[in-house]
Amino acid sequence: MKITEQIKQPIQQEMELFEKKFQDSMTSKVALLNRITYYIVNRKGKQMRPMFVFLTAKMVSGGTVNERTYRGASVIELIHTATLVHDDVVDDSNRRRGFFSINALWKNKIAVLVGDYLLSKGLLLSIDNGDFDLLKIISVAVREMSEGELLQIEKARRLDITEDIYYEIIRQKTATLIAACCALGAKSVIEDEVQVENMRKFGELIGMAFQIKDDLFDYTDEAIGKPTGIDIKEQKMTLPLIHVLNNCTKKEKDWLINSIKNHNKDKKRVKEVIAFVKNNNGLSYAEDKMVEFQQEALSLIGNYPDSPYKDALTLMVNYVIERKK
Ligand code: IPE
Ligand code: IPE
Ligand code: MG
Ligand code: MG
Repeated sequence: MKITEQIKQPIQQEMELFEKKFQDSMTSKVALLNRITYYIVNRKGKQMRPMFVFLTAKMVSGGTVNERTYRGASVIELIHTATLVHDDVVDDSNRRRGFFSINALWKNKIAVLVGDYLLSKGLLLSIDNGDFDLLKIISVAVREMSEGELLQIEKARRLDITEDIYYEIIRQKTATLIAACCALGAKSVIEDEVQVENMRKFGELIGMAFQIKDDLFDYTDEAIGKPTGIDIKEQKMTLPLIHVLNNCTKKEKDWLINSIKNHNKDKKRVKEVIAFVKNNNGLSYAEDKMVEFQQEALSLIGNYPDSPYKDALTLMVNYVIERKK
């Protein structure tokens, strides 16, 4: 059995029902919007965030979920989808999930509005049902994601990013939403704030590993369903490059910075930068850090009694760093 099937096994029913509810949550009276959301639900992603929601809920409660859990999972996937639609505008990226991005097909104007629509549909799903405790968890994530994206742009302009700032960026733009999945999953079924906070932290740590993995993908030539090699073009400095910048000679550093600043659209030069990063252990350094976050995450669920949900969550933690897309 494939690892993803193994992970889904204890939440099979929940994921099936979730897909229906998620699809319904997007419908609109505007035909153009329906065409676009139809396109979106037919090219679904890995759905890791709802999986985190259901697995955490079931692990902490010993196997129960409720309507709040379903709504929370839908809200998070709606917001995740909204941020990807916006992200591809921001990153000027024309592929997503193995096909054209929304901006590639419908242009930026429409992509921005569709993202806003999905975001508001998500927030309303919580509000209309009085899930204010869950909405609070989610809204913190929405705010932090925007801040993280803006911090990333600020640093890309000045090219002066440190490793700590990189961690702050990825914590905000990515880890915070996965943290919200785990906090919300727990909160939807139990009251104990200590456990909710523990699961939030767990999600945050695994989210850090998740984004480091995503940044490593940018250095591969594999077919992962979205473009690779575009971070340097966008002057986005990620951990492999940051590490190499901090550990090379002044002359090499000047060459790297000059390449990113003035030759980032020159394909041959970008290839040279990528080769330099690879030859100077940039990738292995980032992999080591990714594993550190992953191990720290695992240690936070160690004390829960054994269950199929805990096993699946552990598999999921491993899948985050071993996945092929
Ligand atoms: C992509 O997330 C955005 C990041 C935070 C790196 P996923 O890799 O989970 O995207 P999908 O939903 O599977 O396409
Ligand atoms: C992830 O950022 C998207 C958000 C968290 C908003 P990236 O730009 O690094 O992700 P991909 O690689 O395009 O999915
Ligand atoms: Mg981006
Ligand atoms: Mg992007």
